[in-house]
Amino acid sequence: MNNKFIIVIFGGLGDLAQNKLYPVIYSLYKKYRLLNCTKIISTGRRPNVDKEEFLKILEKSIKTHDDSFFSLFDFVKFDLEKEEEYNHLKNMLSNFKEEEFIFYLATPPTTFETIIKNLGEFLKSFPNKRKIVIEKPFGYNLYSAQKLNQLIKIYFKEEEVYRIDHFLGKETVQNIFGLRFSNIIFEGIWNRNFIDHIQISALEDIGVEGRLGYYDKVGALRDMIQNHLIQILSIVAMEPPCCINEKEIRDEKIKVLKSIREIKREDVPLYAVRGQYEGYLIDENLSQSNTETYAAVKLFIENLRWDGVPFYLRTGKKLKRKETSIIIVFKKIPGLFSKILDCMPQEDIIGFKIAPENKIILSFQLRPLGGSMLSCPVSTSMEWTGPNIEAYETLFMDIIEGDQSLFIRKDEIEKSWEIVQPILDFWKDDPNIPIYPQGSWGPKEAEELIRRDGREWRYIDG
Ligand SMILES: NC(=O)c1ccc[n+]([C@@H]2O[C@H](COP(=O)([O-])OP(=O)(O)OC[C@H]3O[C@@H](n4cnc5c(N)ncnc54)[C@H](OP(=O)(O)O)[C@@H]3O)[C@@H](O)[C@H]2O)c1
Repeated sequence: MNNKFIIVIFGGLGDLAQNKLYPVIYSLYKKYRLLNCTKIISTGRRPNVDKEEFLKILEKSIKTHDDSFFSLFDFVKFDLEKEEEYNHLKNMLSNFKEEEFIFYLATPPTTFETIIKNLGEFLKSFPNKRKIVIEKPFGYNLYSAQKLNQLIKIYFKEEEVYRIDHFLGKETVQNIFGLRFSNIIFEGIWNRNFIDHIQISALEDIGVEGRLGYYDKVGALRDMIQNHLIQILSIVAMEPPCCINEKEIRDEKIKVLKSIREIKREDVPLYAVRGQYEGYLIDENLSQSNTETYAAVKLFIENLRWDGVPFYLRTGKKLKRKETSIIIVFKKIPGLFSKILDCMPQEDIIGFKIAPENKIILSFQLRPLGGSMLSCPVSTSMEWTGPNIEAYETLFMDIIEGDQSLFIRKDEIEKSWEIVQPILDFWKDDPNIPIYPQGSWGPKEAEELIRRDGREWRYIDG
């Protein structure tokens, strides 16, 4: 980017800002990617924090003292919910005549509307180019997401809006694109003729970790599946775009979302299960809660490439192990080698592991040394060596450069809410939530969901 710009961070004292944004901004600074950045303005409301105190927080966040980096920063104290308090920020910004403004909303979603409205109003008198970055969760349901989009549209053009889904900044997720579209051997088999089903999982061994206020209102389906896992699904399933640009990539992703079979309210139990880990109420000091800490959903994409191939998406807390993965399970080989065996062949698999580490595995069948016949399962893997770029760094660079490919467009966000809305509605009226033991793989209902189809949940590391 050749133009000068400034960054304004709302929620500059929050967890995201301290643990992700400042370290990432510092990393970009050290790589000389912020040479055109004239100023970074952080905002916060805590009464005991002034600029001096803020710089101490910043130092702790980037784990070093760097005066020249610190000199880029200003700190403004104000309550984002109070209209009259935006004036100070407005005055500060009026000193920057040619800079593009990048506004980063690292605040709770309850503040998004007020910030957008106030910013939008005072920016009317500014000729500067602008971008607005909006964190997840974008909306609480379809209706609120549509409402937020309508508000944004009043003040910002779609090409100025960056809806973040940090999973899209992850190296392995982007490598799905690389593997699929740069290798002829994979493209030929990436369809219903060869693939039996696909599993996309985000499993955690930890609980809510201090985010109860947010999590108990939201639950696993909204927190992980509506956004991250459905986004991954769209990349796994999309057609190759005609060229590599943000419009074409996002056009292909939305086609996938539009092809997902609608789940009728009365059919929800056939397609989705939820659960709450045993002890959630005690851990979180709650007298009652129907919030799911586990959710699994089966989706079908009704198009030529995927018709009949189930996509199983699941996520949960306090499970046996952390694993974020995408597992492509191929159909069983028919004929001879399925009958004459040295050992049981399994389905061939391509697995993308996103966390805890980045790797791609390929499992297939091979004659064992000294064996008589094909085939025993073997697997080979490719792990990333070298610097692993933090997802937020990739996304921050894209924001600066104005590349929206890895950000969610208005129609995508609304469509993904539409997909999960019947499930949310059904669960809202159902008081019975299955309980699963901590340290397990989730509720038995989730096992049944996939077992009914003659399949089982897969894990990259066995
Ligand atoms: N943390 C993560 O790793 C993560 C990951 C993905 C997405 N996100 C999203 O990022 C956003 C921020 O998350 P977070 O974890 O950083 O939350 P957080 O720790 O609660 O930080 C939010 C910040 O916003 C400030 N704030 C809230 N209301 C305000 C108001 N009226 N006026 C001024 N400041 C106000 C808070 O100020 P006080 O300090 O005074 O309360 C706090 O510093 C959320 O939308 C979240 O869903 C976070």
